[in-house]
Amino acid sequence: MKLWIVTGGSGFIGSNFVRYMIKFGDVRIVNLDKLTYAANLDSLKDIAKHPYYSFVKGDIGDRALVTDLLREYHPDGVINFAAESHVDRSIDRPEDFIQTNVLGTFELLEAIRGYWNGQKTDMKDNFRFLHVSTDEVYGSLGDDGFFTENTPYAPNSPYSASKAASDHLVRAYYHTYGLPTLTTNCSNNYGPFQFPEKLIPLMILNALDYKPLPVYGDGQNIRDWLYVLDHCEAIRTVIEHGQLGETYNIGGKNEKSNLEVVYNVCDLLDEMYPRKNGGSYRQQIVFVKDRPGHDLRYAIDSTKIQTLLGWKPQETFETGLRKTVQWYLLNREWCQRATDGSYRW
Ligand code: NAD
Ligand code: DAU
Repeated sequence: MKLWIVTGGSGFIGSNFVRYMIKFGDVRIVNLDKLTYAANLDSLKDIAKHPYYSFVKGDIGDRALVTDLLREYHPDGVINFAAESHVDRSIDRPEDFIQTNVLGTFELLEAIRGYWNGQKTDMKDNFRFLHVSTDEVYGSLGDDGFFTENTPYAPNSPYSASKAASDHLVRAYYHTYGLPTLTTNCSNNYGPFQFPEKLIPLMILNALDYKPLPVYGDGQNIRDWLYVLDHCEAIRTVIEHGQLGETYNIGGKNEKSNLEVVYNVCDLLDEMYPRKNGGSYRQQIVFVKDRPGHDLRYAIDSTKIQTLLGWKPQETFETGLRKTVQWYLLNREWCQRATDGSYRW
């Protein structure tokens, strides 16, 4: 049975991935998470006591702790989700992003390199380090074109710059030390268990609370949306079949302007949970000051993973968004605790 150490497994994508892997089959998961504000143990309540799941509270930047975990569990590999992930927070306070995304990834790589070097050839050959990254490292597109794996890096926010730095370190550890690495660069995720600071859950929960729906600038910035479980499936595909040292772009060809996304959320809520006082949730939309340095457009070309590894997304934006809105409507206790802060342990 394989055993993976997953870092950041209590966050949005990590918790979906841990559940997906545990339910998928014979695999053990050790989740190493620092439990920042973005972590939510409620998100893994249903599998917290599963015999194949263990949780360790800790920092990827703690080299001694990571070394101990590697020696204790002898994993088949490490999948690194741990990061500070919210662009607006990186603009207000970049320090944590440099600390975790750059220095934390460096310490993690050093711990893994030290452990991996001391292993027998068989184990060394089969070990994998998969680094989960973002399409934001490529910067901003104009009206046409797509990000491919060969697009030069041009990060524009402290968040994307810190992720770009971590991607470069991973690349360097493959080329310099031969560490068996893989990197994935994915577009905007959405789905269950996303912390309500990100566009889609924020809009759903604000709408239900009759609060304003703040759209930055004119709402014409474009993001390329992928349902979170399609991302999880892609990561499993890459860790199992990816070629060492390679990077894989992941996206679902779902380009939408932010305003379109917010309209779609409002329309689904109008249908599934009409406002008590009548009218559409669209009435709550307000246009607010733009995000500084706001990237105009992201769009992923995922031909490589689709043709070489056979992955393709299962959800369209329409089916994925409907499932997502439904999930937030059915999980009001999770939402309440995520909003009022009582989710923090
Ligand atoms: P998230 O903010 O929801 O979760 C991050 C998790 O990492 C949290 O549980 C947090 O406690 C943990 N963490 C933070 N610092 C840590 C540290 N120093 N040591 C250990 N754990 C730490 O993030 P997410 O949206 O789930 O994103 C996960 C990863 O995927 C990130 O690396 C992000 O850059 C990348 N990514 C996200 C998206 C997206 O749309 N959300 C898209 C592409 C890539
Ligand atoms: O592209 C992948 C990236 O997607 C990930 O690497 C990041 O971790 C993830 O947070 C996400 O970054 P974005 O900045 O694109 O996501 P966010 O949900 O913050 O914003 C999506 C778009 O919506 C963006 O253009 C800004 C806009 N927006 C966001 C918020 C929170 C609004 O108009 N109003 C808002 O209140």
